[in-house]
Amino acid sequence: VKPMKAIFAGSFDPPTWGHLDIIKRGSGMFEELRIVLARNIRKETIFSPEERQEMLRRLVSDLGLSNVVVDLCGGLLADYAVEHSCNVLLRSVRTLTEIPYEQGMATMNQRLQPSLETIVMFSKPELQDISSSTVRELLAWRRLPPAIVPELVQKELEKRYGPLLQQT
Ligand code: COA
Repeated sequence: VKPMKAIFAGSFDPPTWGHLDIIKRGSGMFEELRIVLARNIRKETIFSPEERQEMLRRLVSDLGLSNVVVDLCGGLLADYAVEHSCNVLLRSVRTLTEIPYEQGMATMNQRLQPSLETIVMFSKPELQDISSSTVRELLAWRRLPPAIVPELVQKELEKRYGPLLQQT
């Protein structure tokens, strides 16, 4: 059996506690976990890839996860996986409605690279409502309830948007 080296890819704009939960759990399952900032052609981002990489590196280091690497990928994830000898794509789903989308991506990625397996992890129930686009939407009203993003992400958001109220 080959050691499992996994990729957890996404846009992480911004990183949330939902992502960090998967990163923590994933780092305990795989020999190496690569967090890969990949490009979703359907999304515009608020932070540059380098800014998101820097935030994720600091978060991973604060958590003391020594087998986690944070990298950027400008092309296809399947090609990136071959280049870095990764054999697993780790994905997370929050609700069952996300499954058809994940199934389509898993199948296409396997078509592109037949040895690439996708493993799907359920997010914790208390984190199921968190998404980066909800965070982006709340920013328009300068509101961000507690326990959605880590403190260092909140600080980066406040540098751009000014103080964010946690409660009214
Ligand atoms: N907790 C909180 N939020 C979570 C989560 C969790 N456990 N798991 C996923 N999410 C959220 C993300 O924050 C994101 O939220 P948003 O839509 O509000 O931004 C959403 O779920 C998933 O989106 P994202 O992280 O952007 O990933 P994606 O599903 O859009 O996939 C790539 C994007 C980058 C992985 C995909 O486009 C890709 O592989 N691109 C590279 C090019 C390529 O290989 N394409 C072919 C693919 S077959």
